[in-house]
Amino acid sequence: MPGRTPLFIPGPTNVPERVRSAIDCVIEDHRAADLPAFTLPLFADLKRAFKSEQGQVFVFPASGTGGWEAAMTNTLSPGDKVLIACFGQFSHLWCDLCRRQGLDVEAVEVEWGEGVPLETFAERLAADRAREIKAVLVCHNETATGVTSDVAGVRKALDAADHPALLFVDGVSSIASIDFRMDEWGVDVAVSGSQKGFMLPAGLAILCVSRKALEARKSAKSLRCYFDFEDMIRTNADGFFPYTPAMHMLRGLRASLDMLFEEGLDKVFARHHRLAEGVRRAVDAWGLTLCAKEPKWHSDTVSAIVVPQGFDSALVTEVAYKRYGLSLGVGLSKVAGKVFRIGHLGDLNELQLMSGIAGAEMAMRDIGIPVEAGSGMAAAAEHYRSTAAPIEVKNAAVSSR
Ligand SMILES: Cc1ncc(COP(=O)(O)O)c(C=O)c1O
Repeated sequence: MPGRTPLFIPGPTNVPERVRSAIDCVIEDHRAADLPAFTLPLFADLKRAFKSEQGQVFVFPASGTGGWEAAMTNTLSPGDKVLIACFGQFSHLWCDLCRRQGLDVEAVEVEWGEGVPLETFAERLAADRAREIKAVLVCHNETATGVTSDVAGVRKALDAADHPALLFVDGVSSIASIDFRMDEWGVDVAVSGSQKGFMLPAGLAILCVSRKALEARKSAKSLRCYFDFEDMIRTNADGFFPYTPAMHMLRGLRASLDMLFEEGLDKVFARHHRLAEGVRRAVDAWGLTLCAKEPKWHSDTVSAIVVPQGFDSALVTEVAYKRYGLSLGVGLSKVAGKVFRIGHLGDLNELQLMSGIAGAEMAMRDIGIPVEAGSGMAAAAEHYRSTAAPIEVKNAAVSSR
């Protein structure tokens, strides 16, 4: 299909030209004497993406799942209890990884479409007088259902119970797109991946780890080798790595951070919110609903849209892809066939996103879902028009009317 393939899955996201060019560099010596001049500022700047001054960042050649494994194995021992809420494919996978690592998982099952149940967490933490829970796990943005949870609220629950458990956050589809405050929220380990908010291809697991979690590694008995923080700490201190680093990706990461900081992190978050709001207006105008049950769960990086009863959401994604070359996110696991997802994160603007909304609308109409032609596009367009910054054109004020 000529033209650029519209990619609206919630990661990997579009890689901006500037990042692609940065990745497209000659092979370099990863033990060169001047490498630290590149890596040390990169590590320092990466902390800013997590809003952390206290933490230490780690970049592993892996995807987000490797980041989970690094987080758990470096800080916990087999048999340690962790508290997690499961409400979507990714929180379930995290649970599964913990079980396979021999952790004692206290999983709170939550309806898909909701997020972390703060009251239940507060009760469990208060009831845990023996302090058996060693870590509380929060999937900040459940990519399968388009649900964002309140990490600060979990920190409050921990503090209210005066509970010493570590706070782990999966920020794979939130960090660098949705507000995230490592230090302020007292997060101990935050895990992300390169292929979402960081606008890179998949290939890097990016973590930020608090001092408390670094201390925990000294007594953590889980087996680890490739993902051992110890080797990274030792070699990163001088700007090097314990094994061959993915230099091209690190060059890309430099460009991605530059872009994020030039726009300004808070503006990046505001842009994601505005873009997401346009999608939500479109969903309303189609007469459909989101998988996220209430506005407080709405995700600014991905919307999971429920198709009406009697329709198969897999057909929407298949038609969108085969007829229009449009990649939408499929429904995963429990919501397979019931929802399709529009990813709206990364290097994206409103007119780009309009093509995703248009394609979703076309594919839905193609399979007979009764959405009014142009309704979603009009609603999104009006939202973007009415929230666009006013400008001056030939001395005439142009604003949204
Ligand atoms: C919230 C969340 N956590 C974890 C993962 C797993 O990351 P990866 O596929 O990079 O291993 C994903 C992937 O989409 C995700 O969305």
